[in-house]
Amino acid sequence: MEQQGISLPAQEFLPRHVGIIMDGNGRWAQKQGLPRSAGHKKGAEVFEQIVKDCDEIGIKVVTAYAFSTENWKRPQAEVEAIMNLLRSYLKRLDAMQKKDNGRIRFLGDKTPLDADLRRMMEEVEAASANNSGIEINIAVNYGGRAELVRAAQTLARQAMAGEIVPGDITEEMLSDRLYTHGQPDPDLIIRPSGEERLSNFLVWQSAYAEFVFMDVLWPDFNKEHLAEALWEYARRNRRFGGV
Ligand code: IPE
Ligand code: IPE
Ligand code: MG
Repeated sequence: MEQQGISLPAQEFLPRHVGIIMDGNGRWAQKQGLPRSAGHKKGAEVFEQIVKDCDEIGIKVVTAYAFSTENWKRPQAEVEAIMNLLRSYLKRLDAMQKKDNGRIRFLGDKTPLDADLRRMMEEVEAASANNSGIEINIAVNYGGRAELVRAAQTLARQAMAGEIVPGDITEEMLSDRLYTHGQPDPDLIIRPSGEERLSNFLVWQSAYAEFVFMDVLWPDFNKEHLAEALWEYARRNRRFGGV
């Protein structure tokens, strides 16, 4: 398959769900003597383009890691800059879902976010809930461990209420109580920036994901890098414990 002169693996070798750890914004900005927030701004623009590329390529679900439960440790000014970016970005997201029919979900706990931001996030989710196009998950105040604790709490409450029996809890029941319920697990997780770790992203869901770590910083990431990761994925032999 070829798009805009970029060669891509055939459809049957493409991942259904791609996870992206959008890392390296700060280093990108520092390299050019700009404030870290400038890196986040460029990173948000790159995200918009990559979602479009994934849609064109035929990927069904994209999950992007935007802000982790650990990122609150950063200087307050940087956290505020990221939240303000999200605020302005939400308007673009709303236009995008209307135009491209994408379904948007935010993964993570919205409670500590500003009320206006929460409301806008919920509005975009509700407005796009019946869209049948690409599914776009944006992980904001997301942590894989926090997500699992939340699922455990839900299951415990249901057991206390006598709705379920603890010994009958299955992997599927736990999966159904995660933010990604109803979606396939990520087949491919891409992490740019040179770091080679999960950083609490999709801890449960990535059990059999293929990882592609790349040396590019996220604000420099483009369709060619995406194609490179997709080719690398297509070459992998996924066994899922079999032979
Ligand atoms: C990723 O880029 C964006 C967020 C975590 C919000 P970073 O801000 O982590 O960039 P580096 O890793 O410091 O370069
Ligand atoms: C992971 O990046 C979180 C996001 C990209 C949103 P970090 O930059 O926070 O991860 P660490 O600190 O390098 O593990
Ligand atoms: Mg980082």
